[in-house]
Amino acid sequence: MKKIALLCSGGDSPGMNCAVRAIVRTAIGKNLEPIGIRRGYAGLLEENFWPMEISSVGNILQQGGTILQSSRCPEFKEKAGRKKAADILKKHSIDGLVVIGGDGSFNGAWALWEEHKIPVIGVPGTIDNDIDNTDYTIGFDTAVQTAVEAVDKIRDTASSHERTFIIEVMGRNSSAIAMHVGICTGAENIVFPADEVDYEQIVGDIKRGVARGKNSSIIICAEGKISGRSYELQSTLSKKYGLDSRLCILGHVQRGGSPSAIDRFLASSMGYQSVLSLIEGNYPLATVFNEGVVTTRPLSDCLKNKGEYLPHYIDLVKALSI
Ligand code: F6P
Repeated sequence: MKKIALLCSGGDSPGMNCAVRAIVRTAIGKNLEPIGIRRGYAGLLEENFWPMEISSVGNILQQGGTILQSSRCPEFKEKAGRKKAADILKKHSIDGLVVIGGDGSFNGAWALWEEHKIPVIGVPGTIDNDIDNTDYTIGFDTAVQTAVEAVDKIRDTASSHERTFIIEVMGRNSSAIAMHVGICTGAENIVFPADEVDYEQIVGDIKRGVARGKNSSIIICAEGKISGRSYELQSTLSKKYGLDSRLCILGHVQRGGSPSAIDRFLASSMGYQSVLSLIEGNYPLATVFNEGVVTTRPLSDCLKNKGEYLPHYIDLVKALSI
């Protein structure tokens, strides 16, 4: 290994910069040449390369977003696009690639390995926390904190006006953000991505709360496949059950902001580990966080979306929101 490249792909997440910094500095410390690829796989196909130095990653630890920028790249999903990408990497004598991103980005990296034997390492960076076989992904902790702070503020006004609020959080098909935010804000109900909405239960819970003196209710709604799902929830609650509510879609605010200490720690450790793995010739791998430590797993173990999980937390939500 002499020259390695790194890119961020898919939805950005707070802490990606910490991973970029760790990869660049570890590589330079080990006498490797790090090449940043701007704009993810799209930038790879455009040869949008940035030879990085120690100072390129100075003072970015605390910055949200990613200095490398990110993208979603339909061309790379095609075999021809990946062949072009592999040829470009070979042309630039790049010996290994670190991909920071979610499950879609990992699948792209896996295909580069399978089809062209490009040494790849995946570093899980997504607010959704939905990558198989890692307990945490970079950005999740910050996104949850951002959402919790927003819901706390909404609770203030909800209490003043004795209102019900529906708050939609990100996560696509993952329940993780909704679950954590719901538990941490004492939400009265959480609607998960795969759920058929149980209107009777929601309305029953809210009425019971009001009867025992509650003056506000919060329903956390996971966005599911398409953002905006909560509009239907609000409209049905109003039209069918006469329940008035206000709606707030937190949206991309959850993707920004300065990374939490946990995300900085996780990203720095994973970035460091990714370079060591390439140097040791251990690939294709993903860095993961399991049982309290950062370690690695075969990349093939981390290609699936975790989907629905942790049913015991659903019991916890029910137990605490009586
Ligand atoms: O995967 C991260 C994520 O923020 C999801 O939670 C969300 O559904 C999606 O990206 C939004 O994507 P985009 O920014 O492309 O609209």
